[in-house]
Amino acid sequence: MTEVATVTMNPAIDHTVFLETFAPNMLNRATNVEYNIGGKGINVSKVLSYLKVPSIALGFLGRNALFFEDELKAMGIETDFVEVTGRTRTNIKVVDMSSAKVTEINEPGPSISEEKLEMLLEKLRECSKACKYVVLSGSLPPGIESSIYKTLIKEVQSLGALAILDAEGDALRNGIEAVPFMIKPNIHELEGFLGRTINNHKDLMNVCRNLLGTGVSLVVVSMGNQGSLCASKEGIYRVHPLTIDVKNTVGAGDAMVSGYVYGLLNGLEGEALASFGAAVSCAQIVGDFSMLDSLRAQIRIERWE
Ligand SMILES: Nc1ncnc2c1ncn2[C@@H]1O[C@H](COP(=O)(O)OP(=O)(O)OP(=O)(O)O)[C@@H](O)[C@H]1O
Ligand SMILES: [Mg+2]
Repeated sequence: MTEVATVTMNPAIDHTVFLETFAPNMLNRATNVEYNIGGKGINVSKVLSYLKVPSIALGFLGRNALFFEDELKAMGIETDFVEVTGRTRTNIKVVDMSSAKVTEINEPGPSISEEKLEMLLEKLRECSKACKYVVLSGSLPPGIESSIYKTLIKEVQSLGALAILDAEGDALRNGIEAVPFMIKPNIHELEGFLGRTINNHKDLMNVCRNLLGTGVSLVVVSMGNQGSLCASKEGIYRVHPLTIDVKNTVGAGDAMVSGYVYGLLNGLEGEALASFGAAVSCAQIVGDFSMLDSLRAQIRIERWE
């Protein structure tokens, strides 16, 4: 049974170019190139499929990207996208292999009409009746108001599913007002939401406590190579980072969301949930999901509260 739906409002063809060293303002020669179907919700579905969790992927696809459905189905992911006029965007990622740093250029994506949005809403309502978790991830295409996640979260949760939000800027700010079950901002997105920098551990803990106070059940803050923080009624856990062989950090946060979804479906809580989510993000970064158990065993967690 499919217990998870992911929504990608603005999918992308991810065009990743690998270079020994990236030098701007010069001719760079790629060592390797990859084309992947992407967009944050789709990334979550893909990692869930590696974890053997079935999911259904929703969102908008232009005619140039209808092949996404076949590729996702081949991975065991159900799909129910709304076809839109205009082209699904291509997002370019330039990976400097000597430093493992990534430069990204994201296109805006096709404009979405009221009618197409209503079609998506109808599909989402059906999924929300059948699924336990609905993951709403990523940026919004032109034509869609930043309050959309707020609307979707209310719909989803009124029909019995729990919403997980991974967004930034106004989409995150508005979304939080609808009290999603879980949010997973990275530290920069959280600072953007607050409109200020987070100064120390105590500050971060207070911010998480306040978010829990608004009714959000699970607040996960990812901090790149600094690890993550997981706050819920079970406690506040600081997950220390692992020193890993960094291959590609693209989608590490999305993988972390998948890890939490897996954990939640399997009854994990507190420390066990936090370590599983972090381990999945690390498996994504090293590009080897067979290492999941050994990565998880290495993760060190400190309880802050
Ligand atoms: N360089 C790194 N070394 C070790 N772990 C890392 C590194 N970068 C990311 N991670 C792991 O991945 C998790 C998520 O990373 P990050 O905070 O960069 O997510 P994000 O910014 O939401 O990423 P994205 O949105 O691109 O998927 C971190 O909490 C950490 O567990
Ligand atoms: Mg992210």
